[in-house]
Amino acid sequence: MTRRVTVALATGGVDRSYDVVVGHGVRSSVGEVVAGIGAVRRVAIVTQEGIPFSSAAALGLDAVQVSRHVIGDGEDHKTFDTVARLCREFVAAGLTRGDAVVAVGGGMVTDVAGFAAASYHRGIAVVHVPTTLLGMVDAAIGGKTGANLPEGKNLVGAFWQPAGVVCDLDALATLSERELRCGRGEMAKYHFLTGDDLQSMDLADRVARCVEIKAEVVASDERESGRRALLNYGHTLAHALEIASDHSIAHGEAHGEAVAIGLVFAARLAERLGRIDAERVQAHVQVVDGEYALSSAIPHVAGADELVALMARDKKAVDGLTFVLDGPQGVEVVVGVDGTVVRDLLAELLPA
Ligand code: GLY
Repeated sequence: MTRRVTVALATGGVDRSYDVVVGHGVRSSVGEVVAGIGAVRRVAIVTQEGIPFSSAAALGLDAVQVSRHVIGDGEDHKTFDTVARLCREFVAAGLTRGDAVVAVGGGMVTDVAGFAAASYHRGIAVVHVPTTLLGMVDAAIGGKTGANLPEGKNLVGAFWQPAGVVCDLDALATLSERELRCGRGEMAKYHFLTGDDLQSMDLADRVARCVEIKAEVVASDERESGRRALLNYGHTLAHALEIASDHSIAHGEAHGEAVAIGLVFAARLAERLGRIDAERVQAHVQVVDGEYALSSAIPHVAGADELVALMARDKKAVDGLTFVLDGPQGVEVVVGVDGTVVRDLLAELLPA
């Protein structure tokens, strides 16, 4: 069964709503999404080597001229240089303002291709075709695009909403166990953003429900001036672990694993601050270590002081340490968390 979720965006009096299609074998509906954009004559498919469903025929793009643009694998390619190269290739392919980009791949591809689409001719349409679990439940939804700087991840980018997102669940059969684990790390956060029993759902319903939760949050706060920050549940420690470990945990494909660790840490911190009880912490452990077979153990990639310093530098930190924490009113953004409490808890949890 195909599920369709609308991301309802109507701020500024302009309806920029779009649909996310979720199901097995839905890849050929990309052609219909492109046809719905208007008079698109040329489509630039941006992808990587080895990504499934990235041909014009598989995507149902027979009615338009298609060019293909392959970018490198890994975070090292998530750069301004890649964005510039793509834009130059779009010129060579003859793309005009009325044409479109179709991004087929994981979060790195949709982030970079989305940023190129946002920049080229000051913005042309983009359709995302996420082929990883992480891309389907998070990266491809909500219009965040970007690239890394040597100083940090995703420090440049734009909010650029796609014209549509097509999640073909058949792509998940081609993923490595590690890629699936990473997707499950991001998926785990949705268990705590609503009271939904995601554990009782099959994969297709679960992906569609995660998309619905994200769509609802994005529709309420597109530019992250408040509520959208809830989607960063688990990310404060995750980002610090990613930076501290450089490539050994985390960059790119392992991001979801770091988020899983961050979720359980956030629950333990919420308990330490008296916001939730031990049973609720256990619910986090059960989802992360049990349901999703991830690890919540914090690896010793840095000491507690260094991790606290890295968390204080997080670009979402507005006033000292900022965490997304569970509590009596549910998950919410908490500013000004006492760094000493965080450091002491980390010191207890880090392996000796
Ligand atoms: N990945 C978090 C967000 O899209 O806001």
